[in-house]
Amino acid sequence: MADLSINFAGISAPNPFWLASAPPTNTGEQIMRAFDHGWGGAVWKTLGEPIVDTSSRFGAISVGNERMAGFSNIELITDRPLEVNLREIRECKRRYPKHAVIVSLMVESRDDWREIIHRVEDTGADGLELNFGCPHGMCERGMGSAVGQEPEVLKIVAGWAVEFSKLPVLVKLTPNIGDITVPGVAAAEAGAHGLSLINTIKSIVGVDLDRMVPHPVVGARSTNGGYCGPAVKPIALHMVAALARDPRVSVPISGIGGIATWRDAAEFIALGCTSVQVCTAVMHYGFRIVGDMIDGLSNFLDEKGMKSVNELRGLAVPAYSEWGDLDLNYKVAAAVDPKKCIGCDLCLVACRDSSVNCIHIGEHPLPAGHRAPSREAANARAKETGIKVTWVDWDECTGCNLCSHVCPVPGCITMVDDTRGKPFESWNDRIAKGTDKVPGGLHG
Ligand SMILES: Cc1cc2nc3c(=O)[nH]c(=O)nc-3n(C[C@H](O)[C@H](O)[C@H](O)COP(=O)(O)O)c2cc1C
Repeated sequence: MADLSINFAGISAPNPFWLASAPPTNTGEQIMRAFDHGWGGAVWKTLGEPIVDTSSRFGAISVGNERMAGFSNIELITDRPLEVNLREIRECKRRYPKHAVIVSLMVESRDDWREIIHRVEDTGADGLELNFGCPHGMCERGMGSAVGQEPEVLKIVAGWAVEFSKLPVLVKLTPNIGDITVPGVAAAEAGAHGLSLINTIKSIVGVDLDRMVPHPVVGARSTNGGYCGPAVKPIALHMVAALARDPRVSVPISGIGGIATWRDAAEFIALGCTSVQVCTAVMHYGFRIVGDMIDGLSNFLDEKGMKSVNELRGLAVPAYSEWGDLDLNYKVAAAVDPKKCIGCDLCLVACRDSSVNCIHIGEHPLPAGHRAPSREAANARAKETGIKVTWVDWDECTGCNLCSHVCPVPGCITMVDDTRGKPFESWNDRIAKGTDKVPGGLHG
């Protein structure tokens, strides 16, 4: 079985699965129970001046049968007294010395940072995570994403934490910014020992059309919340990858955002993460999901012949490049399996209305010289069964992939390599050769 243990900027953990700073890490009792379930680490719910939360404070979007595909909250940081949290952190670390306990912090002034850091250090915690991400409630008070959106301010505040702390300092970034490398590089320049991302995305998750109040409803009002859960994974993956490939960022990354399965975790690790953090999936299904995550990741590593999770880290980063470096001669074509096709026509309609109209049914004429490998089989099936199934004109097909996404039958439409020996040539190659114009209209 592959070794799942990691070392994150000097913080060791039995596996890369950490709980993100959120309701599941609100108390010592919860975190210790989570460790018993197998979680390798936990980031304590953000400590600071205790706050008052609203009721309600959660909203959610369901997509088809998937409940909470997108989740939203207007919760603030901890509402528990600092002394109680510190006592529980100490107890947690005493009973689980091999697990990673990182404490999330958010306070205002330089003196506040100095004091809280020294008090947390006394608990034996393994590291700190600076919450520069909350997009509601705390930013109006000059903290959270208000810091994360101002690289110069972020640098100053992170610099204080690094100066005062003997522990590794992770900076947790907000996604509510145009270019994630700007705050990421500012944190690295401030001396941070690691980055965590993403925190939640500023959002309105929906509107109660009877009460005419956005969700989550707080009496007769609402406010913007922070969006997370499966829906945000693509945004988080992109931001993680942007930092992982940036040569100015050499510190480890803890990936957060929509992680619910071992496969999600493996994707984040392949894009450069050392650990991954989970919030919404645990709020939805409980601590027990980590069992499947551990088994799934171990099996995957074994199948790939990797002895340790560290071998997986960053493997997909080199393939993440600029658009201008992609191969313009690489070509795929859609192949419909006539035996699997149910004749629903969704691919045909999508292709006709949104693409190039290369999908056909029945005896539609094929222009001379065009190839349609499944045409005969499709028409034979129609004669046998009466089910009219689709076929693709490969010389019209642009390989856009749309049909394979709309097809409701798994494995019915596959994209087949149709490059036919053409050599690699990117847009940037064409610019260099002078055979194309510079993108963005800069040409004369
Ligand atoms: C209800 C709720 C409370 C949260 N509280 C905090 C917090 O106190 N500190 C923090 O850094 N992030 C907080 N987060 C953000 C999560 O740690 C995490 O960054 C985000 O939810 C994305 O991960 P996910 O898609 O797995 O939920 C909170 C998220 C939720 C849903």
